[in-house]
Amino acid sequence: MAPMAGYTDVAFRLLLRRLGGVGLTFTEMLHPRTLVGGGGKRRRQLLATDPADVPLGHQIYGPSADLLIQGARWLQDNGATLIDINMGCPQKKIAGVGSGAGLLRDPERAVRIAEAVVKSVTLPVTIKIRLGWDPESPVAEWLAPRFEAAGVAALTVHGRTRSQGFTGTADWEAIGRVVRVVKTMPVIGNGDVVSPAKALEFMQNAGCAGLMIGRGALKRPWVFRDIARALAGEPPCLPPTPDDVVEWAEEQLERMKELYGEKPAILLFRKWIPQYAPALKLNRENMVALLQLTEPEEFRDKFRLLTGSGKTVAD
Ligand SMILES: Cc1cc2nc3c(=O)[nH]c(=O)nc-3n(C[C@H](O)[C@H](O)[C@H](O)COP(=O)(O)O)c2cc1C
Repeated sequence: MAPMAGYTDVAFRLLLRRLGGVGLTFTEMLHPRTLVGGGGKRRRQLLATDPADVPLGHQIYGPSADLLIQGARWLQDNGATLIDINMGCPQKKIAGVGSGAGLLRDPERAVRIAEAVVKSVTLPVTIKIRLGWDPESPVAEWLAPRFEAAGVAALTVHGRTRSQGFTGTADWEAIGRVVRVVKTMPVIGNGDVVSPAKALEFMQNAGCAGLMIGRGALKRPWVFRDIARALAGEPPCLPPTPDDVVEWAEEQLERMKELYGEKPAILLFRKWIPQYAPALKLNRENMVALLQLTEPEEFRDKFRLLTGSGKTVAD
């Protein structure tokens, strides 16, 4: 599962585990200062985990080795088992100040940072990058062998450049070229895989050691189960019914209540409703009605009232 700010909290990660097929999951990107200097509610929520929430990587971002080392050491001292460095975030406020994908503009610095962070902890350190800053500077192939030499444990490559943001399509062949320039470091491919068919096509194209899925799993958290079956040559499961999806969403909401408190949970849960809307067979009007939820208890009743239930979700 891809790290996704605002989405991949422990409530969602445990839902993914329950539905099956997922291997490694990540926290959203964490700023070292939130970790080291923080404390309080926000840090507790970002770091909340569970014995069943494994394997879990903690992702950090920042513009300098010093800061990232502080974050990595803090995480190591506080029970993390894998550190991931974000070198792919395209947001202006992050990439614009030399963090996230900003590091792809200065690949030599990115390598120095990788070396320094790897040396600073005994935990495995992985990195997540894009193909480059823009199409004119596809640095991923230059970076990968240098990260490998630095002792980076695995590299995730999102097949877009920073300048693409989330537009266009992910370039799986370019990810495949990165796979071919490293010796043994596993390369995890990422971008636009949303179904078993896409996963099979992706694995044939890119030949990666692993596959990371982001947006597709927000809409269909059971996609890992389906993909794992397809990759193992097993027949597909029946698609879930809207009732199944309601049950899973309720489970997630319950955990969100524990994590954030009753009122904040329902407000945060609203952003999941458009994600689950296709699987819940919600038309726009019903989706908007569900977005008015003010109490967690209303979810199931309101959903039933609006839609009826028991239909099969189209794959
Ligand atoms: C809402 C949102 C939040 C994201 N947050 C992060 C993040 O915290 N760290 C990160 O490395 N990538 C982040 N990403 C990028 C995803 O991890 C992933 O690389 C991207 O969505 C492409 O994969 P996909 O096509 O499977 O969605 C985020 C993407 C979205 C849409």
